Amino acid sequence: MSNNERTLLKFMLSEPSKNWLLEELLEGTGWDDQVHVAGSGKALSELGLVEVKEETESLVSLGVEGEKALSEGLLEFRIWKCLSSLPESDRTMNRLFEEGFERHEAGPGMGLLKSLGLAIESGKLVSKDESSISKEISMRADFISSLAEGSTPKSQLDGEMVSHFLGRKGLIMVDDQVSRSWSLTDAGSSVEESDLVHVEMIGELTPELLQSEAWRGAKFKPFDVNSPAPIPMGGRPHPMQALIERIRQVFLEMGFSEIEGDFVQSAGWNMDALYIPQSHPARTMQDTFYLSEPSQIDVEEKYLDLWSRVHEHGHDTGSKGWGGSFDKDESRKSLLRTHTTVNTVRHIAENPDEPSRVFGIGRVFRQETIDRTHLPEFHQIEGIIHEEQASLPMLITTLKTFYSKMGYPDVRVRPAYFPYTEPSVEVDILWRGQWLELGGAGIFRPEVTEPLGSEWPVCAWGMGLERLAMIILDLDDIRQLYQPDLERLSRMPIL
Ligand code: PHE
Repeated sequence: MSNNERTLLKFMLSEPSKNWLLEELLEGTGWDDQVHVAGSGKALSELGLVEVKEETESLVSLGVEGEKALSEGLLEFRIWKCLSSLPESDRTMNRLFEEGFERHEAGPGMGLLKSLGLAIESGKLVSKDESSISKEISMRADFISSLAEGSTPKSQLDGEMVSHFLGRKGLIMVDDQVSRSWSLTDAGSSVEESDLVHVEMIGELTPELLQSEAWRGAKFKPFDVNSPAPIPMGGRPHPMQALIERIRQVFLEMGFSEIEGDFVQSAGWNMDALYIPQSHPARTMQDTFYLSEPSQIDVEEKYLDLWSRVHEHGHDTGSKGWGGSFDKDESRKSLLRTHTTVNTVRHIAENPDEPSRVFGIGRVFRQETIDRTHLPEFHQIEGIIHEEQASLPMLITTLKTFYSKMGYPDVRVRPAYFPYTEPSVEVDILWRGQWLELGGAGIFRPEVTEPLGSEWPVCAWGMGLERLAMIILDLDDIRQLYQPDLERLSRMPIL
């Protein structure tokens, strides 16, 4: 038994057969918080010493309209008072308006009087038995005034009046209130008062207590590790933001620098620079979001000329090109970037003679139908190594190092095809015994690098971020990453 339970039991033993109410127990124990009574009472009832009785009572009180009726009088009372003072020939709606009643009062007011037995004949109210109507109206008024003092138990009120007023808007309200009472069981009444001495128990170990000797021989409160406790909900970064930050740290520690770019790009930089043929299916409206504002973006004539030549006949790259004729207006079309490769390509164009290792983590856009594994907006982890000695083994080693640092040491590559790389590979990681495809990589073709002014090979890759997030966070639906479900987000692992 806790000290509070002892206190409560001891007080109840002062009148062992009494049924106690909350206020009485608060006063008797000297507690100011009813939580102590409820808690100790419940514990004592679990020990079989106390019985807790619960009674639900409906309490009736005035609503907003009821309060108004209390100060101004009930509508039927006011209207009847006005009409009954007039000769029968004047008991009309128009007369009511003249007497100052509003339209929203006069109409319903007449309705109320009609339901009390008054008849309307050729627009006038004809009374049958005025005294019974006055009586009913004053009973209603009395009922409303009887509620002036506050809540009244429904059982103490006239049931017909209660149901009448419940049928009218805002006049009265009914609230259910649970009231408890506590009494001793037989076992409770036979507890000896001498068994109820307080014992000092230590609930919290403080540094002061440990430094003093007071803890020796003290009694400690038992600690229940299984009892339910609230889960603390503090602020935390969104898991995607935390993952992006971790990836950023990994590339930075591998010696890469970060680059960025705009969401809005020209088709020229997003596609033509990458030697994606202008007839490629991925360039259609079904796959790419083209913009109407602005519908065109300026691209330097120098590049448009070079790409034209490369696409049409290979220029001096040693390639035969795609053939056909290149459309510069197609290059100027504006779109939402479909991959972050546009950033690395522009980086090479801006720094053709400087060796570089750069990465970027950015949002890309594709016309996808949303489902368990697809979103029209997602992120890519992009990067390049642009230097004289860049090679395929260097590319594969770099990706292996990156994924190992992320916690996935088993990485493999398979031959693949992209219009802008040769060789091209698809990159898989091993996860729970399965190979999962996470992205594409390769060495940029001369058709890409030469027009940009570079003489060196370029290791390039573009990996999916959401796929990686799904396995790290153990999700089976990509949409869960972006739903603002705070409960679920707070349960996701800290990265
Ligand atoms: N851009 C490709 C994609 O979006 C990935 C890629 C990047 C492939 C660089 C090769 C080189 O899937």
